[in-house]
Amino acid sequence: TTRVLTGITTSGTPHLGNYVGAVRPAIAASRATDVESFYFLADLHSLIKAQDPGRTQRSTLEIAATWLACGLDPDKVWFYRQSDIPEINELNWFLTCIAGKGILNRAHAYKAAVDKNTAEGEDADAGITAGLFMYPVLMAADILIFNAKQVPVGRDQVQHIEMARDFAQRFNHVYGREFFVLPEALIDEQVATLPGLDGRKMSKSYDNTIPLFAKREELRRLVFSILTDSRAPGEPKTTEGSALFQLYQAFASAGETAAFAQAFADGISWGDAKQQLFERIDAEIAPLRERYEALMADPAAIEATLRRGGERLREQFAKPFLAELRHAVGLRDLS
Ligand code: TYM
Repeated sequence: TTRVLTGITTSGTPHLGNYVGAVRPAIAASRATDVESFYFLADLHSLIKAQDPGRTQRSTLEIAATWLACGLDPDKVWFYRQSDIPEINELNWFLTCIAGKGILNRAHAYKAAVDKNTAEGEDADAGITAGLFMYPVLMAADILIFNAKQVPVGRDQVQHIEMARDFAQRFNHVYGREFFVLPEALIDEQVATLPGLDGRKMSKSYDNTIPLFAKREELRRLVFSILTDSRAPGEPKTTEGSALFQLYQAFASAGETAAFAQAFADGISWGDAKQQLFERIDAEIAPLRERYEALMADPAAIEATLRRGGERLREQFAKPFLAELRHAVGLRDLS
């Protein structure tokens, strides 16, 4: 069996990008017969961006309810919260002592922060925490602790998976045995990066997201606020570089997408195109939204599910594996 693992940072309300880039492909993958899946809430990662305890808690609940509403079966899939497994953080330190600083210097999120500072004439590292810098190491620990082989993610995370491979390889080499499997990113080529309202990557940090479970009217309002060019009804529209078109494609079959492209060529008005996009998204999301709302009404049940998953995982995998790793690096056996 192949182990599949992925996580979402609990720093906000889940959006369509998370759904299309991670949740939907991960749940589809978990239904295959020969896989063992690990889906988790990256709440330790959330401390890097959102130093707001209330927000982390709320987001943890929302993202957990999202996974469940979208069809995750906690009896068939390992479903847990990162911080419930302290062994992840212990492995984080072992990997920190293996990871090359030069590699971390090249991480996209860190580099973007440095570039922004430099462009603004600030000190290169102004306001950047060591947590942001070390982000990829913690993510590697998430993956390697369960020896996951496939990691379904959006394209923005590919570099992190490559780094996890690098750290795994180094650790295996230094300590002389194949402790870790080398993970691979699993990307849905069709919808590698979903654009947001302004055409840039849909992201909490750009404030251009469409919340996955926005109410129907809110969803409609947001879809109608997607940025388009000023071509008038009747004028042919280009699909290339159109956020509206890419969003449609992420929710439609190949046939529907071809028909939509034809409508663009035929000069559909932006208003009609937006209405069609809204209806397409709503058709897929509406049943999930209903389940989400029911789940959110019972936070205690969600909490119990998460705890159960975390406890079982610790006993079955995390504790014994860490004992092995502690021994390998020369530390005392705690058990
Ligand atoms: P995060 O929380 O930023 O995003 C969660 C998942 O959603 C995908 N995603 C997108 N996909 C397509 N288009 C978009 N606009 C878009 N925005 C987000 C991301 O690629 C990701 O798959 N570091 C990770 C969380 C994490 C993780 C892990 C993932 C922590 N440890 C271990 C996999 C394995 C993150 O911040 O994702």
